[in-house]
Amino acid sequence: MTILITGCNGQLGTEMRNLSLLHPAHRYFFTDVAELDITNREAVEHFVTANRIELIVNCAAYTNVDKAEEDEPAAHLINALAVENLALSGAKIIHISTDYVFSGEESSPRREQDAAAPRTAYGRTKLEGEQLLLKHCPDAVIIRTAWLYSPYGNNFVKTMLRFGAERDELRVVNDQIGTPTYAEDLANAIYAVIEAPEWHEGIYHFTDEGICSWYDFTVEIMRQTQLRAKVTPIASSEYAYKTPRPHYSVLDKSKIKQTFGISIPRWQDSLAKCLTRLCQI
Ligand SMILES: NC(=O)c1ccc[n+]([C@@H]2O[C@H](COP(=O)([O-])OP(=O)(O)OC[C@H]3O[C@@H](n4cnc5c(N)ncnc54)[C@H](OP(=O)(O)O)[C@@H]3O)[C@@H](O)[C@H]2O)c1
Repeated sequence: MTILITGCNGQLGTEMRNLSLLHPAHRYFFTDVAELDITNREAVEHFVTANRIELIVNCAAYTNVDKAEEDEPAAHLINALAVENLALSGAKIIHISTDYVFSGEESSPRREQDAAAPRTAYGRTKLEGEQLLLKHCPDAVIIRTAWLYSPYGNNFVKTMLRFGAERDELRVVNDQIGTPTYAEDLANAIYAVIEAPEWHEGIYHFTDEGICSWYDFTVEIMRQTQLRAKVTPIASSEYAYKTPRPHYSVLDKSKIKQTFGISIPRWQDSLAKCLTRLCQI
């Protein structure tokens, strides 16, 4: 298959590129904004036609939640309108979305069919991207994920490693619950979707296994790296968020596990893998 991976310099895109070495049967094009700006409809159409792209894995997105709140049109352009450009290109699509499409006020793992109710500009634009994609490409695959981290880019793990080395105490919220998700695990799941004997369209949820708070996550990062900073739990109300954060980000992964026969690692085990790589980088 001829596959285009957009947003290839991001966390997930980089892991898709790394793992492509283990999936050599395909022909790959890896692009980020410099090679293919997905907000440019003509450029997308031309690229897909000229290179006979059969499948697009869209790892490109506007992911800065606070900046999206300040400049929703910019987030809308990339998270919604650009997804429509991909949807109109004629290729099959695997698109990545987010737990932020939900309100974050729930208390049971979110299933794919649960009602979306985004409370942020980021969540609204990502939800519109899903809707535009399904309008033009009803056979698309959408995978919603949460709390992504990797050795690349900016993410919570890298921030906490830096703070843990610089500070004596880290104050971390203990009332936002979710599941850390190693981008390599998500990339593996995407390859399972690509290489499944049959194409199974629809919305899926994917995170690593387990549930924790950001405080629990930080304690585990400090434990695994033997950093000595004291980690103190605080309430979200004690932290000056610019944008409301979901209190509950846990996704039900039954559908993706059953449909594609994948097993998902525990978040603590994947964290250990990422920390090993980070120490080597
Ligand atoms: N990070 C998370 O915690 C998280 C949680 C839930 C869901 N997700 C979703 O998971 C997916 C992957 O996230 P990620 O963390 O890997 O994102 P990321 O690291 O921010 O990577 C996104 C990539 O897309 C590129 N991009 C932005 N605008 C573009 C454009 N117009 N054309 C082409 N490329 C463009 C970015 O370039 P620049 O850096 O130059 O802008 C960046 O390289 C996204 O759909 C995201 O919404 C992420």
